[in-house]
Amino acid sequence: MITISPSLLACDFLNIESELKAFEGFTDLWFHLDIMDSHFVPNLTFGHPIVNLISKKTSIPLDAHFMVTNPEFYIETFKDYNIHNFTFHYEACENPMELILEAKKIYPSVGLSIKPGTDVSVLTDEILKELDLVLIMSVEPGFGGQSFIESTYDKVEYLNNKKSELKKKFVIQIDGGVKDINSKQLISAGADNLVAGSYVFKDGPSTYKSKVESLRN
Ligand code: DX5
Ligand code: ZN
Repeated sequence: MITISPSLLACDFLNIESELKAFEGFTDLWFHLDIMDSHFVPNLTFGHPIVNLISKKTSIPLDAHFMVTNPEFYIETFKDYNIHNFTFHYEACENPMELILEAKKIYPSVGLSIKPGTDVSVLTDEILKELDLVLIMSVEPGFGGQSFIESTYDKVEYLNNKKSELKKKFVIQIDGGVKDINSKQLISAGADNLVAGSYVFKDGPSTYKSKVESLRN
């Protein structure tokens, strides 16, 4: 089953509790949390207090996407918020392997993300063997509502082949501009997990179920 990760960046933040409740009972769903530091990316979103509050209001797995410099500072300080998957950026650290191993001591799942301009081959076999998830950014990280970058499909296919070659089960997650019109091709190419912000949230709670299902086709 394909997991869908609605990105809370696009939700109604003044009514976050009811937004979380609107997804209760959905299966194969994670909440995607875009944590931005106004340094690695130009935008600034939310941090510890908000993630803590969210964690107390939902039992849906939390998928934290850290768009921050110095991700090493965040591994320890976010440990009490029941985060299921901890993803940080390849471009933000000198030694990703060291941080992957550190994060794996705390989080059930650890992911590494690459920006659209980063070649997928930077993810060496050694790195891929340790990862639970690879996040391919299909827009420049920083903002919701951007257009999907078509070259993403090739990266997904490359990783899907790597998965067979290495006999590994890491999740291939795609984030940015994901909609019903590109989800089918992403899934065919090998994507397991689709993050979607504006597509899921833009028409309000009565459409969340059908939006989520439409991404799985
Ligand atoms: C962008 C974030 C995404 C964003 C996706 O930097 O990582 O998770 O919320 O938003 P949409 O689906 O609107 O492109
Ligand atoms: Zn994200």
